[in-house]
Amino acid sequence: MKEYARGARGEGRVIGLVPTMGALHEGHTALVARARQECSHVIASVFVNPKQFGPKEDYKKYPRNLEKDAEKLAAVGVDALFAPETADVYPDGFRTYVSVEGISERLEGRSRPGHFRGVATVVLKLFEIVEPHFAYFGRKDAQQVRIISAMVHDLNLDTEIVVCPVVREADGLALSSRNAYLSAEERKAATVLHRALVAARSELSVGMRDALQLQTVMRRTIEAEPLATVDYAEIVSADTFEPMIRVAQLSYAVLAVFVGKTRLIDNLLIEPSPAGSQEFAFQL
Ligand code: PAJ
Repeated sequence: MKEYARGARGEGRVIGLVPTMGALHEGHTALVARARQECSHVIASVFVNPKQFGPKEDYKKYPRNLEKDAEKLAAVGVDALFAPETADVYPDGFRTYVSVEGISERLEGRSRPGHFRGVATVVLKLFEIVEPHFAYFGRKDAQQVRIISAMVHDLNLDTEIVVCPVVREADGLALSSRNAYLSAEERKAATVLHRALVAARSELSVGMRDALQLQTVMRRTIEAEPLATVDYAEIVSADTFEPMIRVAQLSYAVLAVFVGKTRLIDNLLIEPSPAGSQEFAFQL
């Protein structure tokens, strides 16, 4: 892949990379479509990265269907699919990792120790192999993309990170490969993440600024759903992912919720409007 990508770069192509773990859905294909608009050569990767799964997590049962993924990618017009073998990515004796300190220890990182070390390591490897001008990530994994941007900054990488909006089902559930684990009943209950974020947005738009109160609004919504259990529900700085006391700057309402045994995440981006007005803009 390295020689191939270098060849395309050498021909003057603008290279866009869309890293994925496969089991592709419209959230992923939206990233590819965006890359297609902005780049003359689009490479998608499919690699279920063992280093970002904890020992008790779903690495083994994570959905894999490379043939179907390849069809979907061809339909949205990728130029190349990079689907390396685990032994090629992590040969025996592999020993070098990237840790983005601070942000990686919060929220997802606290619930999933080592997760972001695995993510940053594989993404740096992908960037080194493909050397993309642009790489496309979803805001669905807001903390992940913040960590990758920090890595790019800290290590002077030559790739620009493009953040794309969250793609949702008609009832608000964010698309995720893990939605496939949900039973019919759990699938209905899973809309609770979106409902909790909508409830927080409503309170914000009528002036609630206190983070604890907003958290309570989200928790109550989730706790009212019998199949759901809160892992975290917080208001955090979009820069550091540290908890906020009052909402006054660019922030996220972030959620991780177990629906049955399936752990789902979602977030609401809260953007203060310019010129010191009390208004906020929101992105779900
Ligand atoms: P994966 O979960 O397959 O997601 C690949 C990309 O798709 C990520 O950037 C993710 O944020 C984005 N994505 C997933 N669901 C989305 C949705 N509903 N709307 C918009 N974008 C969505 O994230 C990973 O893989 C891995 O951690 C990876 C970065 C590939 C490193 O292994």
